[in-house]
Amino acid sequence: MPSHHHAIPNRRARAVRTIAENSASPTPSGTVPELSDESAVLGLMDLDWVDTAFDRLTSAFESDREVLHAVACKAVPLPSLLRRLADAGAGCEVASPGELELALSAGFAPDRIVFDSPAKTWAELRRAVDLGVSINADNFDELARLDSILAERNSTTATAASARIGVRINPQSGTGAIGALSTATETSKFGIGLADPGAREALIEAYLARPWLNQIHVHSGSQGISLDKAAVGIRAAVDLAEEINARAGARRISRIDIGGGLSVNFDGEDVTPTFADYRAVLEEQVPSLFDFDIVTEFGRALLAKAGTILTRVEYAKTTGGRRIVMTQAGVQVATRTAYAPNDWPLRILPFTPDGNPKIAEAADTEIVPTDVAGPACFSGDLLARERMLPRLDAGDLVAVPETGAYYFSNPFSYNLLPRVPIFGYRTATDGGIEFSLIRRGQAVAEILAEAGEPELRPLSPDSSHSSAEQTAHVG
Ligand SMILES: Cc1ncc(COP(=O)(O)O)c(C=O)c1O
Repeated sequence: MPSHHHAIPNRRARAVRTIAENSASPTPSGTVPELSDESAVLGLMDLDWVDTAFDRLTSAFESDREVLHAVACKAVPLPSLLRRLADAGAGCEVASPGELELALSAGFAPDRIVFDSPAKTWAELRRAVDLGVSINADNFDELARLDSILAERNSTTATAASARIGVRINPQSGTGAIGALSTATETSKFGIGLADPGAREALIEAYLARPWLNQIHVHSGSQGISLDKAAVGIRAAVDLAEEINARAGARRISRIDIGGGLSVNFDGEDVTPTFADYRAVLEEQVPSLFDFDIVTEFGRALLAKAGTILTRVEYAKTTGGRRIVMTQAGVQVATRTAYAPNDWPLRILPFTPDGNPKIAEAADTEIVPTDVAGPACFSGDLLARERMLPRLDAGDLVAVPETGAYYFSNPFSYNLLPRVPIFGYRTATDGGIEFSLIRRGQAVAEILAEAGEPELRPLSPDSSHSSAEQTAHVG
């Protein structure tokens, strides 16, 4: 059942109008964000929706057993947002040393963190074991590394008691609508392919030989994976867990990590499918999942609908009959859309300079095919192409919804375009819209610091400027 959420567009419209008014005549207090030359692109997060989405997830997956909703850090690596989710009872799924440390600093207890990278180094594994975070091993060689680390630490028993350690399986159940995001293909790089000759038996033996293994992980892919396809993967994990437990004569596997991957509707305001829809499919197709503790790792379904990119039209021109609006929002905030526009179409919501929706009749203008372009130096740097929009002019505003996961929070630094400022907004007790800073915009000095060593040194030892001391560094 599609679920209608007029609350999201209503709050978004009010936030846009408040920002437009503040940009026209900025208030000195500085709490309301401003579109200006210094901040011509804003990332906005609807915090009320983040809370609602997390509540709905929690109620959809209610169970007699433990359920840990580990939010996928990669979707929104923003400390204060993660802290808000930690306070609401979430855990955090991480896949790199940076994400692991970010989750810790955002306040997630180690036993609420799940570490999933497919290429963990020795150092990363040692850190994870020492912290006691949950680990999902990707392959047999990683299990062998864990054997040595646990022996080194002489902590097999302690770890088994405190940490949930599992293996990621690949159910090899096939591809979804987006190839690059499908992780359960026959030759996917993730996990152990269950259908490969001998693999299932080898995996069962690996589990039987290691009493500290107590979890199975599966994530069949993200956007574009149907509920049924996801259920096939989860069923494979549950079947395997039941077989291992039967052969061990003990409840070795107590938890199933079902990953994330619930798709988001990028076509309109409806939130569909819902977490409740997913639960219903799982109840129907894998009822015994709910005999286990469960981990989920949702990112996009929790956060995409909360986010909006807001920018203004710097210039508008017509080339070859196409209306083209030039903005400062492009590949740096919408990388997937710029590089894979057919997989990642985004809606464009036009507003007048005073922050009211721009409607063709009201603005006495026509609807024309429009490219919404960003500032980067390649022609693919477009948020939308040939989109039928009311004719836009310089000064109009453009809002791009559904960008709360993997968009402005995952900036791309081509052309040294800055990370954009991100603000949360919510309904205040007086009914107004209240903003809070989540991440400052990047200053030019910070861009330079990131670009390379601030002290310029000759790059070749043959250079007339080189000295023994300088070349020694690369020796
Ligand atoms: C292992 C794992 N878990 C969870 C996620 C989050 O997926 P989604 O944002 O689609 O829920 C991903 C996404 O790449 C992933 O690789």
